[in-house]
This record gives sequence, structure tokens and C-alpha cells, in this order.
Amino acid sequence: MARMLQRYDDRERMNHWFIALMFVLAGLSGLAFFHPSLFFLSHLFGGGSWARILHPFMGVLMVLSFLGLAAKLWRANVLVAGDREWKKHMGDMLRGKKASLPPVGKYNYGQKMVFWVMLVSLLVLLVTGIMFWRPWFAPYFPIDLLRVAALLHSIAAVALIAATIVHVYAALWVKGTTRAMTRGTVSEDWARLNHALWHKEVTGGR
Ligand code: HEM
Repeated sequence: MARMLQRYDDRERMNHWFIALMFVLAGLSGLAFFHPSLFFLSHLFGGGSWARILHPFMGVLMVLSFLGLAAKLWRANVLVAGDREWKKHMGDMLRGKKASLPPVGKYNYGQKMVFWVMLVSLLVLLVTGIMFWRPWFAPYFPIDLLRVAALLHSIAAVALIAATIVHVYAALWVKGTTRAMTRGTVSEDWARLNHALWHKEVTGGR
């Protein structure tokens, strides 16, 4: 039986799946207000009024729990010199020619970019969303600023959805990755193949 390496602890995994749940709920209720053709989605939340009441709370919970996870993982997502080399070989990754990719640490360049896009878009969603959260905060801002905030809120939502699609696709596409977030462990072969420097770090090069 292959030896397993710990990649996430229980709290990180529970936090991650809570973020994913809030992403789906805040996303579906938000899309209901995005365009009239999507308003039918509000029925999932008990109608327009309930979707409107619940959406900001689910959004805030998503951002706060993401910040909790990010506080633990941001250091591993800082770009390093080797990432530039990996970026040049990104095509090889997509073609499945992993042997020509330079060794990477806990996360590769693609994962790191997804992380930062998620963080920035969530912060924009939080700040702009609070600004036009009626009746609490909106009266404090001029209407023109609220219009800009609403536009930025939509742009950030599209960026977050796009980053999450890439994230889920990559997690399913690279065989053996999903168990990192379901069981918390990955096989030693997976680590050696996909994150050689991290493998060396956690095993001491054995
Ligand atoms: C069904 C949906 C999702 C699946 C299947 C999924 C799967 C995974 C997997 C397998 C990992 C571990 C990757 C690794 O260690 O190499 C991971 C990490 C992570 N996921 Fe998800 N995820 C989902 C949704 C989300 C959402 C909605 C967010 C945030 C909005 C998110 C944020 C993260 C973050 C921040 C990490 C840590 C990676 C890093 O720091 O670069 N995930 N996910």
C-alpha cells in the first residue's frame, strides 16, 4: 500500500467545504438578482425577499471563512523565482507532459494565481457588498458611489466564479488531488510527481 502524506488537517478541510457550500448558496442567490432571466433561482431560498435577506449573510460567512483558511495558507501561495519557469511550461501541464515541468513546492503557479484571484475578488465583494447593504450601510454613501460599487461587485463575482471553475476543473483533472480535501492525505507518488519540493520538505528527502 502506498504511503500517505498529510496535506490538510480536519479544521482546514471543514473550513474549505463550508466555503464551497457558502459559495454555491451566495452564488445562486446572487445570480437571481444578476438578470431577470435568473430570478427563478430565488425560489430555492423561499422567494425574492428571503433570497435578498439571506444573500449578504451567506456572502459574509463565505469571506470570513475564506480569510480563516487564507491566514494559514497564504505563505505557501507567495510567488517565488521558480514559478516563472513553471509558467513558461504551463502548456506542458495541459498536455499532460509533467516530466518537463520544474519541481514546485506546496502549490504550483496556477494554484497560486487562483488563490490570489479568489482572495482579491472576495475582498472586493465584501467591501462593495457592505456599502450597498440596505437598510444598514447604503445611506452613508452617495448614490453614484453605490452604482460603482454594484458594478465592481458583479465584476468580482464573475472573477470568483471563473477562478472557482478553473480550481474545481484542476482538482478533478489532476488524478489523486480531491482526496487531499476529502481525506486530508495524498499518496507519496502524487506528491513526488506534482509537488516535488513539498514532498522533499515533508519527508526530509527520504
Ligand atoms: C466543489 C467545489 C470544490 C472542489 C472539488 C475543491 C477541491 C479542492 C481541492 C482538492 C483542494 C486541494 C488542492 C491541493 O492541495 O493541491 C482545494 C484547495 C483549496 N480550495 Fe477548493 N474546491 C472547491 C471549491 C472551492 C471554493 C468555492 C473555494 C473558494 C472560493 C475554494 C478554495 C480553495 C483554497 C483556498 C484551497 C487551498 C489552495 C491554495 O491555497 O492555493 N475551493 N480545493
